[in-house]
Amino acid sequence: MDWGMKNRMSRLISPETGRAVWLAIDHGYFLGPLTKLEEPAKTIKPLIPFTDALMLTRGILRNCVDANLPVPIILRVSGGNSIVGPALSNEDIQTSMEEAIRLNASAIAFSIYVGTEHEHKTLIALGKLVDEGQRYGIPVLAVTAVGKELEKRDTRYLALCCRIAAELGAQAVKTYYCEEFEKVVKGCPVPLVIAGGPKLKTEHDALRLAKSAIKKGAKGVDMGRNIWQSPNAVGMIKAIRKIVHENASVEEAVKLLKKLKT
Ligand code: R5P
Repeated sequence: MDWGMKNRMSRLISPETGRAVWLAIDHGYFLGPLTKLEEPAKTIKPLIPFTDALMLTRGILRNCVDANLPVPIILRVSGGNSIVGPALSNEDIQTSMEEAIRLNASAIAFSIYVGTEHEHKTLIALGKLVDEGQRYGIPVLAVTAVGKELEKRDTRYLALCCRIAAELGAQAVKTYYCEEFEKVVKGCPVPLVIAGGPKLKTEHDALRLAKSAIKKGAKGVDMGRNIWQSPNAVGMIKAIRKIVHENASVEEAVKLLKKLKT
């Protein structure tokens, strides 16, 4: 890995722990102003000190994040779809590499839709971004998106998607947790992080999810709703950090969460 790429990766995945807690707030690019993310600036302000990187679009970055803050940016560059449109998988590159460099992004994120009618388009676009990323030293995070078909989140499917993303050159992959997650990790030679998915019933459930993923080989989380939709969002991100960076048990993390109850 060239120096620039390596340096950017080291801002995203802690060289001390080898792990990462990223805060995902990019949901509005196809979901609009969803609950608790109506005013992104307000939601993320108290969370920024506890995140290793912020994953978002250029519009929210420019309008809602103070450029003086030292938080690394994972810039979502795919889009072109919406929750009310005909096909959620119909995504393409909507933000250029030049723009990512201008915004001082530490990485770019792009969704691939394996098994959909737009599989080919998204995979070819991923390859194109990897080529450009290599040219400028910008890592590419491939996101294994499932569109509306959440039932697709099984081991075989996710192992397939993650491996394809790594084969096409992504420097890191974001996927979902599943049963036998260790098989997904085993088949993917680049760092894997998990999304949280829709808000789970309890904070305890989300902490258990993070712990299981870490135990089975994930390098961290790129979590959104299970953090910022929690009534104790700061407590949640701190509890997640304890699991990811300090190898804490779920019980220890819950204890911290309760202590920090607002
Ligand atoms: C999915 O593609 C979204 O862009 C989010 O970045 C991702 O799902 C992570 O957020 P959450 O933990 O809310 O699922």
